Amino acid sequence: YIGSAQVLIQAQPYNSKYEIPRKHFFVYNHLVLGSGEFGIVVEGAIQLPQDGRMIQVAVKTVRPNVDLQYFRALLSEVKVMTCIGRHPHIVNIVGACTKDIRKSEILLAVEYCRKGNLRDFLRKSREGFKNQIEDGKLQPLESIVEGAICTRDLIRWSCEIANGMDFLSSKNIIHADLACRNILLTESLVAKISDFGLSRQLMDYSNYVKKHQCPLPWKWMAIESLKDMHFSIQSDVWSYGVLLWETFSLGEVPYPGQNWSHEFLNDLVAGKRLVKPTYATDTIYELMLECWNEDLRGRPKFFKLKEKFEGVLADVS
Ligand code: ADE
Repeated sequence: YIGSAQVLIQAQPYNSKYEIPRKHFFVYNHLVLGSGEFGIVVEGAIQLPQDGRMIQVAVKTVRPNVDLQYFRALLSEVKVMTCIGRHPHIVNIVGACTKDIRKSEILLAVEYCRKGNLRDFLRKSREGFKNQIEDGKLQPLESIVEGAICTRDLIRWSCEIANGMDFLSSKNIIHADLACRNILLTESLVAKISDFGLSRQLMDYSNYVKKHQCPLPWKWMAIESLKDMHFSIQSDVWSYGVLLWETFSLGEVPYPGQNWSHEFLNDLVAGKRLVKPTYATDTIYELMLECWNEDLRGRPKFFKLKEKFEGVLADVS
């Protein structure tokens, strides 16, 4: 599927500042980090033309022999990344090979995030997790336990992700698939927003209507997205609320055991929402509920969410 916004991106100039010759790309095809139906992410390295240094990267490519539209989609992803600029809380581009094409490849190298995705990391951290909530209030940590994850980390990631989303929204980028599985952690456990594969850049439009796309991340989708495929920065805020729920439940699956049906949408319209996750305070759960406001204009903006979490972080530091 290529949406109308993708067509708009293709009309954008490609910033060749990031173009790196094929011979400086090292692609380790046996070290698979992730794979989809048409794309694959593997470990790799690129040698910087400036000083010959080798940098570890994640390399995204399209599988050979797939439809041309997927090459176009990856190319537009490269364009989005080169056009929007860098931010500490997004997975930034390191380089790309789009011109010096051998076997009609496109290679996109992005920052390597050693600790993998936030959902799996949270699940692995359940044992040894330091809950800082007592009697509904956040308490400072009595002692730092080396390697243990605590409530403060959950708050810091929430803040970092809101910060990254505020940046993306300032560039008119709609992520459209914001979820813990699409947040990556660096070696030093900094959260970065990943997977612009589905992202859409808006030109002068504040949102746009998209039809027919399967499969859909329905548990993370706002009411208006489920109803009529209406995506906007404010529908990303809804998804961010579900991401918060995943974070403060240490990687639980939202709406466990449910399958897609119209009943699900009807329940949301009737006001049914996810219940407060185990490791959230009332204040944090109230923020989730604000993100799940049926009226998209009533949902908080990402800069507000960032400020709120900065406030919570200050309380627990
Ligand atoms: N999996 C997908 N993208 C990745 C990245 N940038 N770093 C590490 N693992 C990944």
